Amino acid sequence: MVNFNNDFLVKEIKRRLSIINLIEGYTSIKKTGKGYVGLCPFHDDHNPSMYVDEEKGLFHCFSCGAGGDMLGFYMRYNGLTFPEAVSDLAKRANITIEKSSTPVKGHSRINNLFKLNAAVSRFYHRALLESPNGGPAREYLEKRKIPPGVIEEFKLGYAPDGWDALVKFLKKNNIPASLAENLGLIVKKQSGDGYYDRFRNRIVFPICSVEGKVIGFGGRRIKESDEPKYINSPESEIYHKRKNFYGLDSSKDHIRKNKRAIIVEGYTDFLALFSAGVKNAVATLGTSLTRDHVVTLRRYTDRIVVVFDGDESGVKAAVRSLDIFLEEGLLPGVVILPEGNDPDSFLAERGAEAFYKLIDEAPTLLDFYIDNTVNEYRNGAVTLNSGVKEIADVLVKVNEPVLRSSYIKKTAEKLGLGENEVMSLVRLGKGHGKMGGVKTVKSHSNHEKLMLNILLTYPDLSGVVAAEDWEECVSNRDVKSILEEIIVKGVHDMSSLLLSFQGSGAQGLISEALMSSPGIPDRDTAGKMIMSCMKKLKQAKLDERLKSLRLGISDAVKNKDAELEKRLLTEYTDLRKQK
Ligand code: UTP
Ligand code: MN
Repeated sequence: MVNFNNDFLVKEIKRRLSIINLIEGYTSIKKTGKGYVGLCPFHDDHNPSMYVDEEKGLFHCFSCGAGGDMLGFYMRYNGLTFPEAVSDLAKRANITIEKSSTPVKGHSRINNLFKLNAAVSRFYHRALLESPNGGPAREYLEKRKIPPGVIEEFKLGYAPDGWDALVKFLKKNNIPASLAENLGLIVKKQSGDGYYDRFRNRIVFPICSVEGKVIGFGGRRIKESDEPKYINSPESEIYHKRKNFYGLDSSKDHIRKNKRAIIVEGYTDFLALFSAGVKNAVATLGTSLTRDHVVTLRRYTDRIVVVFDGDESGVKAAVRSLDIFLEEGLLPGVVILPEGNDPDSFLAERGAEAFYKLIDEAPTLLDFYIDNTVNEYRNGAVTLNSGVKEIADVLVKVNEPVLRSSYIKKTAEKLGLGENEVMSLVRLGKGHGKMGGVKTVKSHSNHEKLMLNILLTYPDLSGVVAAEDWEECVSNRDVKSILEEIIVKGVHDMSSLLLSFQGSGAQGLISEALMSSPGIPDRDTAGKMIMSCMKKLKQAKLDERLKSLRLGISDAVKNKDAELEKRLLTEYTDLRKQK
């Protein structure tokens, strides 16, 4: 979405609107010596810790790390996507967005795909409500207790039986078959000419983008003998199952209001929750949770509860999702339903109150993971050694030091080990570069931040850094990607740089660096400072490796692993020499 036009538009918005006025509309801020300060709306703030700098056009909360420009503030506060925020603020700034006379390449094609999906969604919806052959579909939904209001709100549909209901509809409306084929709505016949419908005799769930445009479809069988149970749209130019959720367009406001999002696995689970009044949920789309999903959802809240079915695959899925959350710096709650239940059946049996209770009492995913591994050890599925190593590998990714040490303590207690034993394994994992790079403000070294700060102030110094192997030495993933924009891609203009990181936590790092001004007196000094930063970072990297090698060696000695000991020792002496 970020293109030249956006860049221009964003600059114009910033030129016309004041960040002070904008933020004042949401939280009260007061003038202090250099800028403005107020209560941060992005965490439970009791002492004003958010600073706003009118001249730089930035805000930053020095307590929770939220920060960025006015678009970043507006998106985050209102849970909007970047295009939505731009469109709102452009209106506020009285900028009329002219439809460009030469359409951006590909733009009209994408529009046509959306239009096609909208028409097809109406076709299926009408078939559900009106078609004479739709009786069994209507009865099916009634049996599943999906009320008419929900059918209406989510425009559920019916894909008629037979092979060409949709093909005929497209023909009648002069819609090119190739377009529908691109979206996987119809499929080319293997022999002979023509196409047949992908969705046949199925309940249809239109899947929408956050903006509410239909991007794809899910179809559930009505006859239990049909296989598979669900058919989904294939990936297309507009449908990405790894990034989108079912239901988010309707639930995003509820998620913001509730300050919590519930992730479930199925269309019907989502609809059952919605029907029962639990409206702050989303469902994944026949795929396990991905990092992109988490990035999408955290625009609305960082309090997330994942709900898994009460079977073995539910537990496995829960375990797998842990890494993804930790890498995004989040720690969600997890609910594993009683055996044999999914959210839909649980609600039918026990009701919404019981469901809320599970959600409210959900342990963190990390607690769940540790307990699960400890149980595996207790019933002999894993050895103590591999169990504790597994846990240590996960704890490495928790960058919040207080949180990490509390989990180290818990793990040690549960396994009957000393805290130090667990701790040393965690440290060893760290040295091996398995760091997940969890984003917490406190976690990156001051030198990484200082380097960022200098380059943001003097971007033309990036040549100096480019000549060094800086990528090796910078461990924070966000700092690294910002530096990459500046050094490798040559983005030296602050507004464009912020634009590259819209909606991401990296904006907070940029605002922090620019607003904490350590006082770099001039370009010459900046050049010297940056060289000394590089040197310190290289040193730190080396020290870290040496330290973990020492721990590894003493471990190897303890375990009588002579081969490992030798290998680590060789590396150690080599590095010592280098130093
Ligand atoms: P489930 O098998 O748990 O089904 O699949 P469900 O959601 O409980 O559906 P009902 O209640 O039987 O109608 C969970 C999700 O996995 C995807 C779908 O997105 C489904 O909602 N799935 C499942 C598929 O994509 N294909 C399948 O064949 C089965
Ligand atoms: Mn179900």
